Amino acid sequence: MLEIEKLTVYFGDRCVLDDVSLSVARGEVLGVVGESGSGKTMTALSVMGLLNPAARIEGGSIRLDGRELIGLDGRAMSGIRGRNMAMIFQEPMTSLNPTMRIGKQLGEAVKLHYENRQPKQEIKRIVLDALADVRLPEPERVYASYPHELSGGMRQRVMIAMGTICRPGYLLCDEPTTALDVTTQKGILELIGTLKKEHNMGIVFITHDLKLLRNFADKVAVMCRGKVVERGTVEEIFAAPKEDYTKRLIAAIPDRSRRLAKTSV
Ligand SMILES: Nc1ncnc2c1ncn2[C@@H]1O[C@H](COP(=O)(O)OP(=O)(O)O)[C@@H](O)[C@H]1O
Ligand SMILES: [Mg+2]
Repeated sequence: MLEIEKLTVYFGDRCVLDDVSLSVARGEVLGVVGESGSGKTMTALSVMGLLNPAARIEGGSIRLDGRELIGLDGRAMSGIRGRNMAMIFQEPMTSLNPTMRIGKQLGEAVKLHYENRQPKQEIKRIVLDALADVRLPEPERVYASYPHELSGGMRQRVMIAMGTICRPGYLLCDEPTTALDVTTQKGILELIGTLKKEHNMGIVFITHDLKLLRNFADKVAVMCRGKVVERGTVEEIFAAPKEDYTKRLIAAIPDRSRRLAKTSV
């Protein structure tokens, strides 16, 4: 289990996360939805130990399979990142080095993980397997490509390969499809769902778009101004939103998809 309990985070004297509690088990998808600025990214960065130094955790607990993460030093956290949990960001281009071929970038991640003890050929095999694992056609060609030679959807697949190459138990996806067109978005969601099953990962899927969570998330937490204001299954949230804020998120979905959402529950 990844368990966040009563997490409170301040930026200067401003409270940006207020008593946030969330949990996700292996094999489960937790959707976190909320408008821009509601604290979704801060929550994920807190878990990863990647908060901006100006932010500070004032209270609460983050446990990964029973182990408390708050208070661990940088070295311990970097050991846990990649190996036990990984995060995927909205814009893959900002996380990829534009001057380095894809194969080499993924190879670096593998080397870090195995502390340089793997022979070169073995690293290449692991990287090619990871590229095939995220259903990229022609892994050899992608291996030799630079990021700009790939489409946005392919780059996001590369980022997913990078995140999952060391087989983490938990994957935090921060709006991974927001920069993509609808068809590509669908493919990426399907891929995350497939990898979840194949590797029994726990997924935290962050989005401002509630309809993406339909048929995908097992449970949903709605965030507003640094707080979790509502939680339930997707069906519960769509059928009977308790908070006005959640009703507004649903109202923001175009009519046609809303009808589909209702009929699909
Ligand atoms: N670098 C920063 N400096 C100051 N405030 C920040 C910074 N990053 C985020 N915040 C504040 O923290 C709050 C939550 O932000 P964030 O978690 O990024 O929201 P979301 O991901 O839901 O859009 C916002 O109100 C934002 O203004
Ligand atoms: Mg965000």
